[in-house]
Amino acid sequence: MSQPPLSDAMESVLAESRRFPPPPEFAQQAHVQTMEQYEAMHRRSIAEPEVFWDETARQLHWFEPWGKVLEWNLPDAKWFVGGKTNLCYNCIDRQIDAGHGDEAAIIWEAEPMPDGKPEVVRLTYNDLRREVGVFANVLKNLGVKKGDVVTIYMGMVPQLAIAMLACARIGAPHSIIFGGFSASAIKDRVEDGQSKIILTCDGSWRRGKAVPLKANVDEALTMTDLVETVVVYQRCGNEVDMVDGRDHWWHDLAQGVSDDCPAEPMDSEDLLFILYTSGSTGKPKGIMHTTGGYMVYTYLTSKISFDLKPGEDVYWCTADIGWITGHSYIIYGLLPNRTPTLMYEGAPDCPDCSRFWDIVERHRVTKFYTAPTAIRAFMKWGDEFVKKHDLSSLKLLGTVGEPINPEAWMWYHTTIGAERCPIVDTWWQTETGGHMLTPVPGATTTTPGSCTRPFFGIDAAVVNSEGEAMPTNAGGILVIRKPWPSMLRGIYGNRQRFIDTYWSKVEGFYTAGDGARVDEHGNFWIMGRIDDVIVVAGHNLGTMEVESALVSHPRVAEAAVVGFPHEIKGTGIASFVILKGEVPAGDDAEAFKQELATHVAKELGPISKPDLIRFTEALPKTRSGKIMRRLLRDIAAGKQIQQDTTTLEDRGIVDKLQAHA
Ligand code: WTA
Repeated sequence: MSQPPLSDAMESVLAESRRFPPPPEFAQQAHVQTMEQYEAMHRRSIAEPEVFWDETARQLHWFEPWGKVLEWNLPDAKWFVGGKTNLCYNCIDRQIDAGHGDEAAIIWEAEPMPDGKPEVVRLTYNDLRREVGVFANVLKNLGVKKGDVVTIYMGMVPQLAIAMLACARIGAPHSIIFGGFSASAIKDRVEDGQSKIILTCDGSWRRGKAVPLKANVDEALTMTDLVETVVVYQRCGNEVDMVDGRDHWWHDLAQGVSDDCPAEPMDSEDLLFILYTSGSTGKPKGIMHTTGGYMVYTYLTSKISFDLKPGEDVYWCTADIGWITGHSYIIYGLLPNRTPTLMYEGAPDCPDCSRFWDIVERHRVTKFYTAPTAIRAFMKWGDEFVKKHDLSSLKLLGTVGEPINPEAWMWYHTTIGAERCPIVDTWWQTETGGHMLTPVPGATTTTPGSCTRPFFGIDAAVVNSEGEAMPTNAGGILVIRKPWPSMLRGIYGNRQRFIDTYWSKVEGFYTAGDGARVDEHGNFWIMGRIDDVIVVAGHNLGTMEVESALVSHPRVAEAAVVGFPHEIKGTGIASFVILKGEVPAGDDAEAFKQELATHVAKELGPISKPDLIRFTEALPKTRSGKIMRRLLRDIAAGKQIQQDTTTLEDRGIVDKLQAHA
């Protein structure tokens, strides 16, 4: 990295003055009920991490106790050293042992609604133990052993959860690939992980169409010889080619197989899974997470951030299991909390734009977790789709994945949450395994756009490249100064890249790659990736803040801002804007651009006024919904795009933007 983003204090965006204390009726029932309580617990967790995490880990099941809680040789952490446990056991068996075998563990809803009726599958802990036991034995029969990497490329069906839990049960690390990725992404990940087996489906439902998953696997396997076994779960009835000796149907393999498969005692530091980061920059990295620390941290963050209570909640996270959000907050953090976790198979606009709210109403969802990109889509589609449904079961709303602009936060708060539900804006990463900065919903006063405070055990700070804390409101590098249980243990097969990426920018600290500032209340504000901070006429601007200002205009649905070479200023501000409703043409377009530029200048000051505004119908995004600003930078600079675009959701958007440049 060249220079740290020593951003000046920006005038607060829009809503800093808007502060929302936790609703009293929520706080009274919460695990953590006041700010004093949060602060005392946080202080203790930092001063005596070993005591804090020892107490937390004891709430779960271990076959053998650990000796030391933490062994720390920067950048290598070992947590619960010598302890033996099994995460699948903690998800399932522990609940059955305590007499809860007949309670719902997973509630699954299919995308298709034949005759307008939803298809729902409820799996209890007993059901899940049987299904997972059978499939774990299937894997063993196929020769899969402890330590073998199992690649999973499936749709959002219950068998995906069953497959990952079966891997955890026998100690085979999984490498899950999001079903929206293409053949070359599969090939790259299989080779990087040296994986000899792939679990897939014939297809998966997405907006009424069957995505050809098996055909993508077949194409990937023409590019590599590594894979010896493919297991296919039949979901859509797609025609598929089955290669003799290599490909097997899930239902054939499961026929007559025993459901008795005891969970393997795993060392706390045994590899649990590899997950490749969504890669909005550079070649994907195989992030490694191990068993004990990841289990304890995702368990506690789920419990506290979502304020989970066994027997009281129905929790729904709308992410795909192919992302870290799905790993940690659909399955691994949820099941040990004995909270039913809802999995929805398909798209939010199928059969129409009210599908999510229909699901919330029918299943009486209490805790709902989604991404800002989805929230902005709902805003654009219009309130009528929300208003049709009874959302009174909701108690808490969460968001993750990118900074949420205050406009979207307010809409979420008012239209979805009826001003009754605390919002937890959770900042974290594939690398961190679990929530790092987040409100504690019964205690924290929230402010739209801020992810507020560090979680227990997290020593977060905003610093300069020397590691010195920045003054209040001054932008800098977001770092974590102490190890935490679910931190990544490395990049699979690439030690040097692990050190270079996370441990070399500020000595002694983990650098997340995000820029941030801390306000006068001690709340953190993420300014976007460090690469997204631009220097305009000597001032550091977070592109995120300009985007928020644009979106605060009533006619703007979404905006992306990047820097581009500017003759006078050095760097100019280019903005790509999606409008609500009709896009003006000719002179009207010019006049409206002026209006938008003036609007931003009024919100943030003249220095932040965009030099270039373009209206567009869509923005280039990764498949996990992150705007790919590096592509927009090239477009704004008038350069031909020669970068890696394999993680892009729809390459057509970029081609269109370039054609009209
Ligand atoms: C961004 C997703 C602002 C951030 C869990 C981070 C956020 C990257 C937030 C990690 C948030 C995630 N506010 N920015 N609440 N949550 N980000 O690995 O830039 O897919 O570094 O993990 O997303 O993305 P990843």
